[in-house]
Amino acid sequence: MTISNRPFGALADGTPVSCWTLTSETGLVAEVLDYGVTIRSVVVPDKNGRPTDVVLGYDTVEEYVAQDAYLGATVGRFANRIREGRFQLNGESYCLCINNGPNHLHGGLRGFDRYVWQSRQEEAGVVFTRLSPDGEEGYPGNLQLQVTIGWIGNALTITYDAQTDRDTILNLTNHSYFNLNGAGSGRIEGHSLQLNADRYTVCDENCTPTGELAPVEGTAMDFRSPKPIGRDVERDEPCVRPYLGYDSNFVLSGHPVAVAVGDVSGITLVADTDQPGVQLYTANYLTDRPGKQGQRYGFRSGFCLETQHFPDAINHPQWPSCILRPGERFHSTTSYAFF
Ligand code: BGC
Repeated sequence: MTISNRPFGALADGTPVSCWTLTSETGLVAEVLDYGVTIRSVVVPDKNGRPTDVVLGYDTVEEYVAQDAYLGATVGRFANRIREGRFQLNGESYCLCINNGPNHLHGGLRGFDRYVWQSRQEEAGVVFTRLSPDGEEGYPGNLQLQVTIGWIGNALTITYDAQTDRDTILNLTNHSYFNLNGAGSGRIEGHSLQLNADRYTVCDENCTPTGELAPVEGTAMDFRSPKPIGRDVERDEPCVRPYLGYDSNFVLSGHPVAVAVGDVSGITLVADTDQPGVQLYTANYLTDRPGKQGQRYGFRSGFCLETQHFPDAINHPQWPSCILRPGERFHSTTSYAFF
């Protein structure tokens, strides 16, 4: 792997932003900003050998600051939703901001995606660090974070590490929008997708879990065999209709967790994680906008595979725990491999 770094403008307050370029031994190239530990581009060859950028992104830091859609960003302290922004921990009640309907979403008004992280080059890739202070966005505990991004063969590998000095909750993800036919090439319904998930977390109309884990069988959520993302997306079912498409968490049951193929490019993405869930989000709320190099993005022009704890896990004690305690070390890996 070769790694280099270049300036990428500055925030309004003058804080410089930089862009890391990571080239795999197999010639795949990813760019990652220290602003929000944001994956800006991933360039891989298509079936004809033509270099194809498969993630949505922007050319300037100003556009990253202005965006509302978390393109490529690292999301935390708690990715996805917390019902009404409320939870209890050790008998104490916590109240977070409401920024998505009646709920708390993606860490709040200024989540991890909105900070310039410290970064340095190491053997495994680029290491991004940040201290999220006690009380930030209402979350308890000083949280020391480390996100390492590097190539292992053809797999862009993201490793999350965290430690806290007070009990806290944690759910970290990457919010890349993939379009394996090429960013800006149009909608993604023609992509084939397979997900290793027998069940999903049923949600209410505000996309918040009811607590039920339902079988995917017989529903639009059944991706156990590869099928085009668009095949069932318009079905009149409560798992897709209220969200204008896929925006749900799958309960993962095996590895790799997901395989997607661009129907035009032939590019295959194999996603894997040690997390218990993955949110398939088909950019149903992505409004029309300019992207990198004159590209245009909009409704369903990408899909996210957000590896995660189940949404609102803190309010469902029967689910895998999202609590991190002092003395413990959170360590988790997600990889996106391209062929
Ligand atoms: C959520 C969507 C939301 C999007 C923000 C996804 O993780 O599930 O509902 O609109 O992030 O861009």
